[in-house]
Parts: sequence; structure tokens; C-alpha cells
Amino acid sequence: MDVDIGNALASVASPGVSREGLERLDERVAVAHERIERGMENREHGYEALNLPNRTEPDEIRTAVEPVAGPDTETLLTIGIGGSALGAATITNALADEGDTEAIYLDNVDPEWVSSHLEGASLEHTAINVVSRSGTTAETLANFLVVRDAFESAGVDWTERTIVTTGESGPLRDLSDRHDLPALTVPDGVPGRFSALSAVGMVAAAVCGHDPEALLEGAAAEADSLSGSLFECPAYAYGATSYALDARGAGTNAMIPYAESLETYAEWFAQLWAESLGKDELGQTPVRALGVTDQHSQLQLYRAGPRDKLVTFVKPRTGPDRPIPETDVDDLAYLGDSTLGELLEAEFEATEASLAAAGRPNVRVELECVDEYELGGLLYGMEAACVLAGELYGVETFTQPAVEWAKKATRGLLGGGEFDEADAVTEKTELR
Ligand code: PA5
Repeated sequence: MDVDIGNALASVASPGVSREGLERLDERVAVAHERIERGMENREHGYEALNLPNRTEPDEIRTAVEPVAGPDTETLLTIGIGGSALGAATITNALADEGDTEAIYLDNVDPEWVSSHLEGASLEHTAINVVSRSGTTAETLANFLVVRDAFESAGVDWTERTIVTTGESGPLRDLSDRHDLPALTVPDGVPGRFSALSAVGMVAAAVCGHDPEALLEGAAAEADSLSGSLFECPAYAYGATSYALDARGAGTNAMIPYAESLETYAEWFAQLWAESLGKDELGQTPVRALGVTDQHSQLQLYRAGPRDKLVTFVKPRTGPDRPIPETDVDDLAYLGDSTLGELLEAEFEATEASLAAAGRPNVRVELECVDEYELGGLLYGMEAACVLAGELYGVETFTQPAVEWAKKATRGLLGGGEFDEADAVTEKTELR
């Protein structure tokens, strides 16, 4: 990925960061990079995720998915939530093409929504992909039990059509051992939201006909570009600039991909940024948006609202195109000489320029196109940017105590164990 921070500089934007400010920050980037390299070398928790391009083994994944992949599988139903769903969904939604195995994700436990995915589904042509690093997440296990029951009711042997990805031990591992299901492991030291480039993302990619090797190659190229200076490393340029702008008042980061296929990527980014950096009363609030759709809604706020935002554009340079047919309405004649791709490009240029003209900081992240290689680079680059930002903030990037609090409270309230968190909820309810 390429990163252009020109529109985030203090000379053109407010809040903005001066060149001198970035140069001072670069000294801290060098120290942070050394810490990151050490963490990667020692395979420390979290830092290990940045080793995935060289550790994930596509052959192991292809072998494991063999029983569920193939022309018989029309739909891959992935059951997981947060980091156990969004990376895979980013990949399969970005790369989905006609004729591919359709990828569906069950993360929410809204009963109506879950039922709508099961009613009328052709279960004999559906494979189940259950993903939970801990193997204890209530939403994932509950949805799995519901789906398994639907298979049994339809007389379809779910054990023949299920693949599991989970940690070395835990209830989901026990279940997969008991039924002798093909199972892959979420590598040690890789937190959920940093696991897209492990089996967690690659199983869905492989079953849906995408190329895990190319995803990992793109990620490896981005890994090779990590260096001790933000001026030489696109991922660090993004992480350091976002951090610097937040420190200067841009507490919101609006992520706007200019490709419908990258809509889920914005969701993945929001989780990565929020769950990793939102600690100790620090962190930048990510907002999910989509170009061009949100030009007709949120853009008003970004250009004329409070000066507390960074807008990040993700822009593929090339993509499929389609001509706009000519019309005999004079006022629309200009469209007939163009294509939808050219219109999209013009909308992007106009939006970027309109923010710059209003002195609103924005950063352009460019991809060559949306394919496996570029996507692998984008996922890895944003993870590295996030790890760097975490070092600069001085937060525990790889933990998620607030998320764990709610997970335990939920399980406790349903009788799934004794947790102080559940008691706290009960006490609060009693106070009302
Ligand atoms: O990044 C994280 O750690 C979380 O978002 C988890 O991925 C999410 O809570 C799901 O956890 P698990 O994979 O253990 O089911």
C-alpha cells in the first residue's frame, strides 16, 4: 500500500502536524520499531501476529479444508464474532466473484436474523466454519449449537460438513476432538483482531476459491517495508500520522474505502483501531464509512463540523469498469462520455479536494487494485500501523479487558460460571 499524508500537514490542515513535528516523532518511531522487532523476534504475545506472513502454511490449510471445499459446497457459513469473523469477511467480501462459494457470516445472535439465514438454506450444500480463539465465546457457541441442530433436523450429517479453528485447548477444541472434526489452530500469541492472516482468515479464503499464497505474499511485502522511519515505511507513516493528529485534536478517524468491495474492511479496521488503542482514556474513535455513498451523508460533517477528525481514504487505482450509456437529455450528455469508474474517480478526487480546501486533515491510502496481494498488504499494513500507534500511545495494544468484562458478565448471567462481572450487573439492576 502507498500512503500520502500531504493533506494532514499543518501547512494545509487544522488540526495538522508540521514537518518538524513529524521529524521529532520519527525519533520515537525508531525506538518503537526496535521494540516491535524485538517482540517479533521473541514471538511475544501480539507482536507474533506480524510474523504471520512467514508462519501461516497454506498447504496445511488447503489439506484441512479438503473435506468441506469443492463444487458440492455452495455456501460457507462462518460462525464467529469480532476478530474471529471480520478478517475472513473482509477477505471473502472483497474478493467475491460470480461462481465462488458464497460466504455468510453469523456473528450476531439476533434470533430473527439467525433464523432468516437458516430458513430455506440448502444445508446439504453448506459447510460450517466455526471460529473461536478462546473456544468459550457465548455468541459463537450458541450459534453453532443452533446451526448444528438445524442440520440434524434436516437430516444432514454436520460432522461431515464442519471445520473448526480454535486455540490449543478449550470447549470448542474438546468438541472438535470428540467428533473428530478437521481442526486448525489459532497460533499462540495472535490476538483475534490480528488473526486475519492466520487460519482464521485463510480457511474462508481457501474454501471460497481465493489464493492464500498471494494474500500472504502481499502481507510479506508490507512486512519487508517495516523500517525505523515513518518517512520510509507506509504503515508507520499512517500509524504515526494518525497518532500525531489525535494528539492535536483529531480524536475521530473516519475510514472511507472507495470500493464497495472494501466496505467490510472498514468494519475490520474499526475493530482493530478501537479494541487495540482504546485504553487508559486514550485512543482515536474509528468511524465506518463508504465512498461514494457517504459523500451524500457524513461528508457534510467532515467538511464543516467540529475540527476533530482525520478522514482516511482507501483508494484502489484500478478496478473493473462499465460505460455509462448515452442519453438524449442534453443536461446529462456529459455522463454518456464517461464510465462508472471515471465517475467514482471524479467523486473521490472532488471529496479529497473539498476536505483539503476546507483545511480538514485527510490521508490517502492507495492500493493498485483489490486482489489477494493488495489486500494482504492492506491488512498487514494497518495491523503494523496499529501496533506502532499502540507503542506511541503507550497502551497495551494486544489486550481487550473491556470486551472480556462483558463476555464474562454475559456467561455469568446465563449461569455459565461464577464471575464478579455478572454480580456487578445484577447489583446495578437491583439499584434501579
Ligand atoms: O480481538 C479480539 O480478541 C476479540 O474481538 C475476539 O476476536 C472476539 O471477542 C472473539 O473471541 P473468540 O475468538 O475467542 O471467540
